[in-house]
Amino acid sequence: MEKTLVLLKPSCVQRQLIGEILNRFERRGLRIAGLKMMQLDDAILREHYSHLADKPFFPTLAASMQVSPVVALALEGIDAVQVVRTMTGATNGRAAAPGTIRGDYSVSNQQNIVHASDSPENAAIELKRFFRPEEIFEYTSGAREYIYGADEC
Ligand code: TYD
Repeated sequence: MEKTLVLLKPSCVQRQLIGEILNRFERRGLRIAGLKMMQLDDAILREHYSHLADKPFFPTLAASMQVSPVVALALEGIDAVQVVRTMTGATNGRAAAPGTIRGDYSVSNQQNIVHASDSPENAAIELKRFFRPEEIFEYTSGAREYIYGADEC
């Protein structure tokens, strides 16, 4: 099983879509291993978006992520990183395919509802960035045998 990090951004929180987006991940069969609300400070955003630090949109991106708390999720499943990225859709909501979260709920490149880790390596780093070890729970989902075939996990 693989875990991935999702942030429900202020664009999601402000538009009161937390339950709706959370529901999509649960319905798909991903297990919620961690869940918390956090107000992000400058330091964590500089680290999280370090690959974008020299982009002209970095200041507005950082500001947009601090307008309200975010909801951090640790989601688990087979190939969870890829499954969640596919559900998330293209960065720019205007280009994101209908049926994806960004394609269904956003029309913006920045106010695009969710962040999702883009590789297993980055997921491991990002989960540590947003969760302490004791905030990740290893319970077994009661529905697991109906979510995966017996030979899949
Ligand atoms: P990036 O890591 O490229 O995309 P993704 O979130 O799909 O992994 O960019 C991180 C965030 O930066 C993106 O979700 C929204 C913001 N952003 C902008 O505000 N303007 C832009 O032109 C781009 C490419 C990203």
